[in-house]
Order: sequence, then C-alpha cells, then structure tokens
Amino acid sequence: MKIPHSFSEYTEAYRESVANPEKFWAEIADDFRWKKKWDKVVEWDFHKPEVKWFTGGKLNVTENCLDRHLPARANQTAILWEPNAPQEPTRKISYRELHEQVCRVANMLKKHGIKKGDRVCIYMPMVPEVVFAMLGCARIGAVHSVVFAGFSSRSLVDRINDSQCRLVLTADGAYRGDKKIDIKGIVNSALDKCPSIEKVIVLQRTHTPVEMKPGRDLWWHDEMAQVAKECAAEEMDAEDMLFILYTSGSTGKPKGMVHTCAGYLVSIDYTFRTVFQYTPDQVFWCTADVGWITGHSYIVYGPLSAGATTLMFEGIPSWPDMGRFWHVIEKHKVNIFYTAPTAIRSLQTASLDFVEKYDLSSLRLLGSVGEPINEEAWQWYHKNIGKEKCPIVDTWWQTETGGIMISPIAHVTKLKLAHATLPLPGVQPVVMDERGNVMTENSIEGRLAMRFPWPSMARTIYGDHQRFKDTYFSTFPGHYFTGDGCRRDEEGYYRITGRVDDIIIVSGHNMGTAEIESAIDEHSAVAESAVVGFPHDIKGQGIYAFVICYQKPQEEEKVKNEIRETVAKIIGPIAKPDKIQFVNGLPKTRSGKIMRRILRKVAEGDVANLGDTTTLLDPAVVEEIKNGAV
Ligand code: PRX
Repeated sequence: MKIPHSFSEYTEAYRESVANPEKFWAEIADDFRWKKKWDKVVEWDFHKPEVKWFTGGKLNVTENCLDRHLPARANQTAILWEPNAPQEPTRKISYRELHEQVCRVANMLKKHGIKKGDRVCIYMPMVPEVVFAMLGCARIGAVHSVVFAGFSSRSLVDRINDSQCRLVLTADGAYRGDKKIDIKGIVNSALDKCPSIEKVIVLQRTHTPVEMKPGRDLWWHDEMAQVAKECAAEEMDAEDMLFILYTSGSTGKPKGMVHTCAGYLVSIDYTFRTVFQYTPDQVFWCTADVGWITGHSYIVYGPLSAGATTLMFEGIPSWPDMGRFWHVIEKHKVNIFYTAPTAIRSLQTASLDFVEKYDLSSLRLLGSVGEPINEEAWQWYHKNIGKEKCPIVDTWWQTETGGIMISPIAHVTKLKLAHATLPLPGVQPVVMDERGNVMTENSIEGRLAMRFPWPSMARTIYGDHQRFKDTYFSTFPGHYFTGDGCRRDEEGYYRITGRVDDIIIVSGHNMGTAEIESAIDEHSAVAESAVVGFPHDIKGQGIYAFVICYQKPQEEEKVKNEIRETVAKIIGPIAKPDKIQFVNGLPKTRSGKIMRRILRKVAEGDVANLGDTTTLLDPAVVEEIKNGAV
C-alpha cells in the first residue's frame, strides 16, 4: 500500500485519487486478503442514493485483522489493556491469543444459533473481551451493534428493537473511576421490552452478584470453555453488513448507520496508516470508548488491520487523579496519543504537576477528534504534552463517514491552529452556499458536502433508506451533506465551524436536541421544552433547556434535578441539561415553529443581538425569556 510520506507524495496521491479513483482504491485494496477479487471498484448514484465498493469481491474482515498477521506477528501484542485501577495488572493480548479468543466467541455465538446476517447487541465495558465480541461477530458474518455502556436501559431497548438483535453480550458490571456500574441490571430491565432477544451472555468483570434469568442468561466463561479455538472465517460479500452503529439525528429516533465489510476495512486501514504514519512496534492509544465510531475505527479495526499494538483503557482521565492519562503514557511508552478536545480542556484545568511528574518522551504524535479544538486547548496540548515536538492531527470525520476525511497527515501537512487542514486522498469535499451552489474559490465559508463516495461511507440507515436519503442527500441533490459548516481559507485549508442542524456536540458526543426534548417532556410536570447548545468551557457545548411546566414549580431546584434524572434515565447521564430555565412560553412563529435562533442567543448570553422578533406569534415571551436567563 502506497502511503504518502511527504507533501509532494500527498499532492500526487490526492491528484491520482481524483483523476482515477478506481485505480487509486484498487491499488490500496490489493494489499488485503480476499477470498475472491472484486469485479468493479465502485458503483454509485447519490440521487438514489446507492453506493457500492468492490462489488463481487469476497473476504472476511477478521482474516485481515488477525489471520494475515499470524506468520509475522503471532507473538506481538495486539491489545495492550490498561485497567481502571492502576494497581490491577495490565493485560497483553498477542495476535495469536486474540485470534483464538475471537474464534471462541464466534463458536459460542454459533452454538446459540447465531448465523450470518443476525444482529448481536454488545453492551460491555472497555475490556479486551469487547473486542473479542466485535470480531467474533465479524468472523461468522453476524452484524454487531455496540451500544455505549453509558446509555440507559431505555436507549438500549430502542437500539435492540430497531435492529431486532437476537443476542446480547454484556458483563456483570463495569468500573468507572471509583464507581461500579450495574450494567447487567440495566440489561435486565431493558430486556422485558425486547422480545427479539433469545440469549444473553455475561462476562464476569466486577464479580457483583447479578440476577441471571434461567434459560436466557449464560456465563461467558462457561460458554467459552466449551467451544473450540478454531473457527473458519465466513465468506462475506464486499457489501455485506459489518456493523450497525447508532448516532443521534434531528428527530428523537437514533439512526442505525450501516457499515459494510470491504469498503470500511480498506478506508480505515488506509486512513490509520496515512494520518498517523504508523510504523511497526509503535504503541497507539486512542482514548475513545468502543461504543462510538472512533473506538470502532481507531481502537479496533484500523490498528488491528494494520498489525499495530492498540492500547485500550478502561478508566477515566480524572481518577485516581488528573494525571492518569500521563501515567498511562509513561507506563506503556505510548507513541501516538489520540483523544478528544473535551478531555484536553478538562485536564488543562488541573495543576501542571500532574503532567510534569511523568516522562512523556515516548510521544511522537498527538491527535484530536470529535469537535473543533479551540486554540487554547491546542496550545496547551502542543506545549505541555507534545513538548512542542509532536504534531497535532486534528481529524475531522463522522459516524457516517466511518473513517477520517479531512486531517493533517502527521509530519507531512503544514499545521494550522484549529484547522482540520486538507482532505485525505480519496476525499472530495465541496463547500456549498445556502442555495446549494458549489463555491469553487478559496477564502469562503459555507456548508460542507462531498461530491464523490469514499469506501467507508455508511450505506444506509438500518431499516429506513428513505431517512438516509432525506438526511444526507436531499439538501444538496447529488451530494452527501455532512451537516457541518466550514471555512476554506486562502490556501484551501479547511476549518470546521460546527453543526448547522439541530445536533449539538457535547463532550465530543453527538446529541439531537429533539431526543433530549422528548426525554424532558416525559417528566410529569413538563408541558413543552426546547433545547439548544451553548458554549461550555470544558464540554465544548453544554445543554440549555427552556421548559414550560403545567404549573409554575414551587421548588424549582427540586424539579430541575428531577428533570435531569428523567433525562439520565431515558437517554443516559451524558444528555443531562447543564442549565434549565422555566418559562411561560417559547418564541414561536405564526406557523408554530420554535425560533431556536433566539433561544441560542439567550443561551449564549448575547441578549442584545436577538435579531428580528416581529414575526413571532407573541413577541412578549422574548422579554420574559431574556430576563430569566440562567
Ligand atoms: O460536527 C462534526 C464533529 O463531530 C461530528 C460527528 O460526530 P460523530 O458522528 O459522533 O463522530 C465523532 C467522531 C468522528 C461532525 O459532524 N467533529 C468531529 N471531528 C471534528 C469535528 N468538528 C471539528 N473538528 C473535528 N476534528
């Protein structure tokens, strides 16, 4: 695989990838293990929309992540696992051991009737077994749907039912700092409402006593002991589903993004090697949770496909103290560190003693993902963690894109503060004006779209292709619309300015305002609500809820806390509003549409610039909202 190592190699690769995408991607795909080569590299029509890569090709993703590395790397550490508590021993899982464990999971699933195409829900803590589980599904062609273990029971129900999962892989509990999370209890309460689930396999992690339902629930260790350590890899069509991953949308219902086998593998491997310039024997650490796309692509599939050593961390950055990340870097001599701006901003508030205590000299490269990185965080990260020697790759991408799209290439692309910089080879961004005209010049600002497919793009929303079309392909017909705004500067460098739709990014997590509103509305005192984002020092954006109650609450703080708990119960603690303001009315147009622009200004504290309010049904509500801002 030809990876660009200099700026001229990048520009040449980029030029080729646009001039002849079929040839460009075929050369990359040639390096993988295929059971049968493809007939056609790409077939696509963004109007339908339909996208297919490597049609006619047959392969299995796990053969590429595991079997093909065994001759040279059987004893190399594939997963380096750092537990929540620093005193607990580290685990090192070699490629050989990983292969065996994945085969055992595959056989365990088969034993319980799981076949190619069946959906399996994974609701597990950050332990190596979650990787065994994902790859075990992929081994036999079952489709995994990993649900972040911080999501509530209700969120789990929605996700299991939407894709009709047959089996759940979970654990008796999870550690999170000094807390133990009862994830089996959450699964138990969800499953009363999930008739499609036949079996639950439970890993022992915390050894907390849990309720096991006879006939349905089984112990992971018992089941794994009964099955063989070899399992032939299922032959998969290039376009067969590899996994479903849910992401928030602008309606209350999450979208099950569907990723397929070959295109995903090829892009993720290529972007991993290119952006991070990975060389053998380096230790790569991505701090995301496997429940998000970043974990799927850059803890699991990318590094393993590239034969890397991927560090997986169970804990949190602030426990036992604010030096935990830096401790892990020293302990495992991490070379590449990939995290989110929200983590940097929170660690930045702690004393520098927590950083200076540790030897960070193994670091060669830093990465950032999930939201725009602000200049102050960038500077702090660059100076104190990278010691002004390590480039920072600010990687822009989405659950829907599967892999990194716009990003510096380490040591290759000139860095610009807070810019995602340039598109990777194979990525063809366009900037649109509000009327949907492509702006071809530089020094412009508009909306970011793509005019050509790339192999790891999501193919559909599970069970709702029309929604896929409406969400991504209708705003600018013939183009994929990202939902983000951006600037392109005089040199053609991109800076992502944030979402232009009703999605807010809180601590790097995508959340739909409609989803939070419908959760708030479930509180019995609430008649209606409207949620907007506001700038937050640590989280990037915070959640500000304007709430109308049937009757003015007597004890406001008590009701606010209850509302927060309602949201935590329905979605998960990450969606709790930071600020709640009780109001008597919301600014609505005569057609009943909430004017969020006004609410956003209030939430931002910019009440002097509310703009035109004359089209409102009742302009008086604005005065009340302004005066009661929290
Ligand atoms: O708004 C962009 C923001 O995160 C959104 C995608 O969120 P999600 O699907 O959860 O995936 C996050 C991990 C890839 C994007 O539409 N975003 C992501 N990375 C960046 C970013 N915004 C600015 N700069 C980034 N580097």
